[in-house]
Amino acid sequence: FFANVSRSFSQGSSQPERPSFGVAFDIDGVILLGHTPVGGSPQALRRLYDDLGTLKIPYVFLTNGGGFRESKRALELSELLGIDILPSQVIQGHSPFKQLVNRFENELIIAVGKGEPAAVMSEYGFRNVLSIEEYTSYFDGIDPLAPYKKWTARETHDHSKFKRGDIVSKRVQAAFVVSDSVDWSRDIQVLCDILRTGGLPGREIGKQPYLYFANDDLEYQANFPSERLGMGAFRIALEAIYNRVHPEPLMYTSYGKPNPSVFRNAENILGSLVIPDKSSSHIQPRFRMLYMVGDNPKVDIRGARQAGVPWFSILTRTGVFKGKENHEEFPADLVVDTVEEAVDYILRREC
Ligand code: G3P
Ligand code: MG
Repeated sequence: FFANVSRSFSQGSSQPERPSFGVAFDIDGVILLGHTPVGGSPQALRRLYDDLGTLKIPYVFLTNGGGFRESKRALELSELLGIDILPSQVIQGHSPFKQLVNRFENELIIAVGKGEPAAVMSEYGFRNVLSIEEYTSYFDGIDPLAPYKKWTARETHDHSKFKRGDIVSKRVQAAFVVSDSVDWSRDIQVLCDILRTGGLPGREIGKQPYLYFANDDLEYQANFPSERLGMGAFRIALEAIYNRVHPEPLMYTSYGKPNPSVFRNAENILGSLVIPDKSSSHIQPRFRMLYMVGDNPKVDIRGARQAGVPWFSILTRTGVFKGKENHEEFPADLVVDTVEEAVDYILRREC
């Protein structure tokens, strides 16, 4: 991939010329609805490769979604879209949690959300991470509704890695909401227990541990005619309840789009997709143009607008946005029906 890309750009010159533009694609509502490709996404993405399957145009997926290791998500996207996607091309809401490893590497932390949140955090380098399901299994009675939750497998948890005595007496230093909660009642209950006791459920009030969210999306499209409640809705529910049962207001940090840092990081990753010729002292110029193709004006378009030059925002009508014109509050530079039209516009404009 890297070799091919630098070779395809090096035709006719000694220096591997990086294209002056790149693309960031949102996933939910642009590329997929649930697990179903939408808007002609497979054929649109294939136009970014040459006939030999070599990537011509650097692109990444910039999603607030997550819950699976980037390597696993890349494999799933490759199968769904019929193209070869690399883990480095997949930037998820929780990807920036990597920056917090040196702070919590050996501390006990809790990972919340669908999929494999503890595996995601372990792969980043966190050494003592438990999913909230595992953590809950150490405390009898902490979730009084558990006996009535027939839909959750009463899986037995392997307590060999962490002894019960170690867990219930060890302070949780941070909670990371990696992906969408699959059991709001349990997660709000257990997070309130952790957060209001300084990390020791059932004990006295203590200093609130750190709380991080992978995104703050109020809604997203998924595979239903109207939008679904996202992680931002879960945060609002947790915050409203926590602030009623605790004297101090909830403190937290939300990552993901529309944070400008997410777009700066995407630009760096797009730049790293083409290794400059090691022998040259040729410093790769910054991109002249970066396209953000998204479906949610308050998240994708707002983020690209706040990131400023060289970002150019393209809004599709296959997800959250369904309007005829442009979005009032966060107008995109271009509005199209599908991602296929977006790629068509980009290639006509740039090539
Ligand atoms: O949970 C995912 C949702 O919040 C948004 O996903 O791909 O549209 O950023 P995406
Ligand atoms: Mg989306």
